[in-house]
Amino acid sequence: MAKYKIALLPGDGIGKDVMDSARIVLDKLNLDAEYKYGDIGWEFWKNEGDPLPERTIQLLKETDCCLFGAITSKPKEEAEKELIPELRGKGFTYFSPIVRLRQEFNLRTNLRPCKAYPGNPLNYRDDIDLVVFRENTEGLYSGVEFHPVPYELKKMLEKLHPKARKFEKVSTKDIALSCRIFTRQACQDIVRDAFEYARDHGYKSVTVVEKPNVIRETSGLMVREARKIAEDYPGIELWETNVDAMCMWLVKNPQDYGVLVSSNMFGDIISDLSAQLVGGLGFAYSGNIGDDYAVFEPTHGSAPKYGGQYKVNPMAMILSVKLMLDWLGEKEMASALESAVAGVIKEGKVRTYDMGGSNSSIEVAEAVALRL
Ligand code: NAI
Ligand code: MG
Repeated sequence: MAKYKIALLPGDGIGKDVMDSARIVLDKLNLDAEYKYGDIGWEFWKNEGDPLPERTIQLLKETDCCLFGAITSKPKEEAEKELIPELRGKGFTYFSPIVRLRQEFNLRTNLRPCKAYPGNPLNYRDDIDLVVFRENTEGLYSGVEFHPVPYELKKMLEKLHPKARKFEKVSTKDIALSCRIFTRQACQDIVRDAFEYARDHGYKSVTVVEKPNVIRETSGLMVREARKIAEDYPGIELWETNVDAMCMWLVKNPQDYGVLVSSNMFGDIISDLSAQLVGGLGFAYSGNIGDDYAVFEPTHGSAPKYGGQYKVNPMAMILSVKLMLDWLGEKEMASALESAVAGVIKEGKVRTYDMGGSNSSIEVAEAVALRL
């Protein structure tokens, strides 16, 4: 029996192209693993009314972790229209399978390394090496939202909070409310994950990126918990930076930062900003990590116009494989893969269009495999 069982979910469009590319690298690595392909994406929504069929959830439950490509998703009304006629009007509603995966497997930590590999013409500068930890399940993306705001809730807020009285005269239908919910547990978990990663990977600082001077209770809770947890890691400095200032610092001195940690929405924003500093979508990859399971994926979507052309950059997917190997504890293999990727980038001979080249996704993957 193989040491690992790994689920591969290519998904839609270029998800398939980059998964085929990753497979070339996986096969060359000769990881002791059994790979199981699963269904996810638009085709399954259209034909079955579910973009993440139950059999896929089952498959994931039987594996150690998952590599995911990308999917197409569309707004609710459009999604309805694309269902096969037999399924229309039967009450099927489109839900994001990625959000569902995060909930189903409690993938509470989103991890996004942003490292500049020297020689990449898309680098903002060549000495950036930072990692963003983003809380993945709550905060402003908890989904607890109202429009109109229920009358009882509005009255209750006005009763309990003096600042809510400012809105007393606004009609319930002219006011929308999205709740920013932080639990102490989630704050502790994400900050601890960030510090553990900093310690294990030799980063000297963890920067908590919030806005506690204004959003006193939620951001405040995160920062207060971070201060307590930092005491357990004497060799690593805790820096506290407001999210708006962080965006400026990331453009001014990104090389000064190591690990960044933040809540769901701020983390979403700073991770996209950080990813663009090191090459953008062709290089942006992530891990969605829980206590018992993890899903690794490039952060780009299915780019339908390029689907099936094997034209896009597979590096984000290949680096997702590296992150997976690291998480599995296959440190040597992870670092060999990273060196191979760095070598191909530095040499600069095999490049996809986004880097100014004309090679295919497969040729890039083969160039990486050749160095393994
Ligand atoms: P996208 O990320 O699919 O593509 C935007 C553009 O970025 C592409 O047209 C291409 O020019 C470039 N690009 C993306 N990946 C690249 C790569 N590996 N190499 C080189 N260039 C690359 O975003 P878009 O067009 O907004 O969304 C397309 C579909 O993907 C939508 O249905 C959207 O909902 C879905 N989506 C899915 C995600 C996921 O599966 N995690 C994430 C983001 C979007
Ligand atoms: Mg995003």
